[in-house]
Amino acid sequence: MDKFVIKGPSILKGQVLISGSKNSALPILASTLLFDKPVVIQNLPRVRDIDTMLNLLKSLGSKIEFFNNKKKVRITKTKKQKYFASYSLLKTMRAGILVLGPLVSKYQKSIVSFPGGCVLNGNSGRPINLHLSALQKLGMKYKIKKGGYIYAKSNGKLKGKTLKFQTISVGASQHLIMSSILSNGKTTLHNVATEPEVVDLINFLNSAGANIKWVGKRICQIIGVNSLKETNYTVMGDRIEAGTFCVAATLNKGNLLIKGFDPSLIKTELDLLKKTGAKIKTVEDTIHIKGPQKITKIKHLVTKEYSGFPTDLAPIFMVLLCKASGRSSITENIFQSRFMHAMELQRLGAKILIKKNKAVIEGNTNFIGAEVMSSDLRASAALILAGVSAKGTTVVSRIYHCDRGYESIEKKLNKVGASIRRLN
Ligand code: EPZ
Repeated sequence: MDKFVIKGPSILKGQVLISGSKNSALPILASTLLFDKPVVIQNLPRVRDIDTMLNLLKSLGSKIEFFNNKKKVRITKTKKQKYFASYSLLKTMRAGILVLGPLVSKYQKSIVSFPGGCVLNGNSGRPINLHLSALQKLGMKYKIKKGGYIYAKSNGKLKGKTLKFQTISVGASQHLIMSSILSNGKTTLHNVATEPEVVDLINFLNSAGANIKWVGKRICQIIGVNSLKETNYTVMGDRIEAGTFCVAATLNKGNLLIKGFDPSLIKTELDLLKKTGAKIKTVEDTIHIKGPQKITKIKHLVTKEYSGFPTDLAPIFMVLLCKASGRSSITENIFQSRFMHAMELQRLGAKILIKKNKAVIEGNTNFIGAEVMSSDLRASAALILAGVSAKGTTVVSRIYHCDRGYESIEKKLNKVGASIRRLN
């Protein structure tokens, strides 16, 4: 298992190019199962989850051709279409479940393993009940059989329906949108997630002739079409990676030009960073951010669905608040186990008290290097940033979590002044 050895503290200066969004690219790739015609997708991030999704599509019979250092792919349907998504491919990645609906919608059958992914929800795992019950309403029938496989089918095309999600879910919203576009009639989805990754999926599908539109703030209407046409689509930049580098600059008295990303998509995060003292200018797809000498606390940070503060950036902001002047808190409203890295941050000197879904963070911490272990994707980025600002050597183990979702984070950070070595 690879580790990062980080020597700190470092002041970060220079330019960072943001990669394509993993969480946008994954549903877009899954939805290529709905096409008869070839699809070209550009700006794919070079991260492990994308490799896993492409391997999954390959195992289902899609032909994958790579261009531009694997950042561009052409995906073509072949005559060897399969309907079985194995545990070995889904166990590390939750987004693998997104092939279920497209397979049933297009071919009326599929057998898909229960997915894995970051463990963020304590004992309840990462449920897919919202996905399954909504697909059932469109006419999918399913049984869960031996080995944790979902055997699903439909009698003919799925049928348009009006339905409301009980909880706002990014994945279930994406899953139902993509599964409805070839169905008979009109589907109206209420309480839909409005995260930019949902909007990017809709833009991709509409570019291929789907008929999806917003008819209310959280209401999406999909009129079924018979088929999709060829398309060439560029995935949006990764807002969580952009947010991570903005925090890196704020934390380390940095001066970064962050490029390749629409700053308006992280307005909430940038406004918060301004409150901590960062000086921020945005022009088109560039963020110029300068970290303050002294970081001001954020009294109370609360995670929420978009356009609220994103749960995926909570661990990263926690590192910043450790160094802020005074006491701050973070309340997590999306996942139960978002604070697993807090104990690891304590090894570096942080003072954090967790009470249920609230973390109280005493500021003024001067991180001192130590050995730490990452527990999930965003936790690993948080530990890396803490290591960059810590005095001495920090060793972060289990960085395979990081490789799932951040493209070459160590190379990007080293280019702007950090000292991170990957140990195999
Ligand atoms: C997506 O996960 C992202 N993953 C997550 O990013 C992100 O943290 C999350 O959205 C919230 O923004 C991808 O896009 C691949 P949800 P998703 O369904 O879709 C509950 C990262 O680090 N729920 O919006 O799985 C669920 O338990 C990852 O890149 C059910 O109860 O999240 C949670 O409490 C981690 N039943 C809430 O809804 C369901 O069937 C929101 O989860 C589905 C979800």
